[in-house]
Amino acid sequence: MNATQEQLRLKLEQALVAAFGDEYAGVDPILVTASNPKFGDYQANVALSLSKRLGQQPRAIASAIVEKLDVSDFCETPEIAGPGFINLKLKVAYLEAQLNAIQADSRLGVPKTETPKREIVDFSSPNIAKEMHVGHLRSTILGDSIARILEFQGHDVLRLNHVGDWGTQFGMLITYLREVYPEALTTANALDIGDLVSFYRKAKQRFDEDEAFQETARQEVVRLQAGAEDTLHAWKLLCEQSRREFQIIYDLLDVQVIERGESFYNPLLPSVVEDLAKSGLLVENQGAQVVFLEGFTNREGEPMPLIVQKSDGGYNYATTDLAALRYRIQQDEAKRIIYVTDSGQSNHFAQFFQVARKAEWVPNDVELVHVPFGLVLGEDGKKFKTRSGDTVRLRDLLDEAVIRARADLEARLKEEEREETEEFISEVAEIVGISAVKYADLSQNRTSDYIFSYDKMLDLKGNTAPYMLYAYARIQGISRKGGINFAELGENVKVLLQHETELALAKFLLQLDGVIGSVEQELLPNRLCEYLYELSKKFNQFYDRNQGVRVLEAEEPLRTSRLVLCDLTARTLRLGLDLLGIRVLERM
Ligand code: ARG
Repeated sequence: MNATQEQLRLKLEQALVAAFGDEYAGVDPILVTASNPKFGDYQANVALSLSKRLGQQPRAIASAIVEKLDVSDFCETPEIAGPGFINLKLKVAYLEAQLNAIQADSRLGVPKTETPKREIVDFSSPNIAKEMHVGHLRSTILGDSIARILEFQGHDVLRLNHVGDWGTQFGMLITYLREVYPEALTTANALDIGDLVSFYRKAKQRFDEDEAFQETARQEVVRLQAGAEDTLHAWKLLCEQSRREFQIIYDLLDVQVIERGESFYNPLLPSVVEDLAKSGLLVENQGAQVVFLEGFTNREGEPMPLIVQKSDGGYNYATTDLAALRYRIQQDEAKRIIYVTDSGQSNHFAQFFQVARKAEWVPNDVELVHVPFGLVLGEDGKKFKTRSGDTVRLRDLLDEAVIRARADLEARLKEEEREETEEFISEVAEIVGISAVKYADLSQNRTSDYIFSYDKMLDLKGNTAPYMLYAYARIQGISRKGGINFAELGENVKVLLQHETELALAKFLLQLDGVIGSVEQELLPNRLCEYLYELSKKFNQFYDRNQGVRVLEAEEPLRTSRLVLCDLTARTLRLGLDLLGIRVLERM
């Protein structure tokens, strides 16, 4: 018997429906989690809702249902409470058997999906030659975690980096490159042109102050679009340079993503406009080719169009997204496409989704989802900036987190009079620092803005990465202290649940699949963070000498059973953190 919590809920619902009799087969048993664990685990409220329809007292209906209800495989004898609630309490023997089952399962009771799909997660997606800012960091961290969860579920996930590697800004950049690094255009080798962000700034300055430069830049755009060899060479050089800088961030964050930038869809842009024309949606508006939208108006209240081809013939961000959408549906055969960007782009997504649907490019079995997120704010509640008011370079931000994690660690080692090797210190500092940044982001409901605070994210107390990592390392400490190899506890051990903290921990451990299922649906990784945080609190209560139980000093067979609970907690934390993109430490 290895039923997950979700399957159990279904079985209880079926049993309830069966007990009503055939004529009420369609009725919802209204099964909810019990409001107070004293009354049991679940509560069915159906008797109250049927009362009016049947013209009977709810308590009478409840007893009629309970008389026929057979849930003896999982539950104690059901009880009727208050006006007619049916309370269901899981049998301890059932819970024990469930824990034994997940103990033997490397997926900890989380089944793979029965309907694996090809899903695309479009995330990170910085722009070439512009800096990768905190918004891209948020997209990278959230997108990676979402992709990890879907992959774990058994979906076929394509992680795409929709890099902004095309557009009129390249005219300016290439013109400037010709000016300052003429040799870049003739050598075949990659050239280090240094910090691209300041390069971009200088190019922009030249562009703004010099009309002749502007004209050359415009010609350069035309040459790029026509595929002139030397211009393409310069474009590639700029992309290469950016790519190297982005890769440093991805390596630090341990994130994998496949680059498929905007330029990839270039050849497909004219047909987007042609096909929109064929479908009768395309309208000319002030020289531009547009599609009018429902539900979007401008400040004057007039209907607003989505521009797909500018009056100068050029295409834009929306045209590229429409082309990418078609490619992803037709070529990649994606059934769900998830876009992770800041909520400032919500209109853009709603608009091109609407156009694609109107054009009938989105089959019924394809889901398009924009996953928006809020801003990253500084501790002053304003847009996140350095002290001098510049935007923060991501590399500096991540390095700073590691430096601070290291300082905290060194202070703690001193206090505890511990000697550790440099290798240990730098590994712990790096994992704690990077995890702190990731976890701070993931543990917030993504739709809200969040305040970036090193002090908060590195705090050992509270819902933070250091706290979670520490909870894991502490359990590993139990195994070291007792000389126990968790992996060798054996599959034949019998889990015994006696103490209330044991029962509470056990029930919580069995909820992982439901939590992961909800993240898959709602794409809110903070739900997983909350679960892991609650789990470690439940563990602390169980392991607390006063509130909970003895573990290493307990008599057999309780000792082994409790060690299994420790091991299951540690494995759940490790799996959960891995799905958030966080690596655990055995010791810290
Ligand atoms: N490059 C864009 C930006 O920095 C994000 C791209 C998101 N993905 C997409 N398919 N539009 O804002």
